[in-house]
Amino acid sequence: MKHAGATIVIVAAIFWLSCSKSNETEFNNNNNQCDTVNMKYAVNVQPILQSNCYSCHSTAIATHGVILDTYSGVKQQADNGNLLNVINHAPGYPAMPYGLPKLSECNINIITDWVRRGAPNN
Ligand code: HEC
Repeated sequence: MKHAGATIVIVAAIFWLSCSKSNETEFNNNNNQCDTVNMKYAVNVQPILQSNCYSCHSTAIATHGVILDTYSGVKQQADNGNLLNVINHAPGYPAMPYGLPKLSECNINIITDWVRRGAPNN
């Protein structure tokens, strides 16, 4: 039984590999997966902002002069870099949503994809 330790490690590695593989397949077939390719303003980005930002950044309540319930307002923050910096809690920027938990990784990735495409009004 000199190699028992190594055998256990190998068996564990094989188990882990097969396990992570099947999880991957499951994830790809899962309708709840986070789709972050070709994200659009109206369908994908706007609902996130509506749920998490409109309460402080609407046309009526433009905290810090930031308006996020119009495309032009969002476009301005996307183009000057503030939008991605505040939701990623980048150093030197106020973390948004203010005083609330960070957006989910999925929502951050959705907004990031849209901004990287030039933040179009689509
Ligand atoms: C509870 C109110 C509140 C919510 C919700 C909120 N904000 Fe803010 N936002 C603020 C306040 C207050 C400031 C000014 C903070 C400061 O300057 O320290 C601010 C500032 C900003 C700025 C300007 C940053 C700068 O440096 O000029 C941006 C951009 C911004 N928020 C985006 C967002 C986004 C995107 C969301 C949603 C994910 C959001 N905010 C949600 C209150 C809020």
